[in-house]
Amino acid sequence: RLEKIWLSFGIAMLAVFLIVLGATAFGSGMKPPSEHHHAIDPTKVSETAPFDKPGLTQTGDKQYEAVLVAYAFGYEPQTLEVPVGSTVDFMITSSDVVHGFNIIGTNVNLMVEPGEVSHISHVFDKPGEYLIICNEYCGTGHEYMKTTIVVK
Ligand code: CUA
Repeated sequence: RLEKIWLSFGIAMLAVFLIVLGATAFGSGMKPPSEHHHAIDPTKVSETAPFDKPGLTQTGDKQYEAVLVAYAFGYEPQTLEVPVGSTVDFMITSSDVVHGFNIIGTNVNLMVEPGEVSHISHVFDKPGEYLIICNEYCGTGHEYMKTTIVVK
């Protein structure tokens, strides 16, 4: 009787071992080695919140969140307007290739990669019209990529 118990224990251990081995092999087989984690699917930017509704949202007193999408060749939205002294938290992604996000006259200068979300905050102390340009070569329309932030 004791032999029987030991035999079934042995079989059970063997079964567990095979299941673990199989699951490990299956798990590693499912993941291509070159796979890179993407925060967001660049082909589904227009359906992925918050990028499905690019624009400005007030999040506090003189505090705004600006959601932007960079694409070849432009930015969505075309323009933003905030009061002087506002802190703007930018969230930017690309729906195609690598773009830049450079707010002229500030130290804001980002690389915007498809599949990734870039974050930066900036306080707009001085009124004016701030031009935003792309500083990563992205194709034949690269030099036409721009948007503006109006601070007043
Ligand atoms: Cu986008 Cu250069």
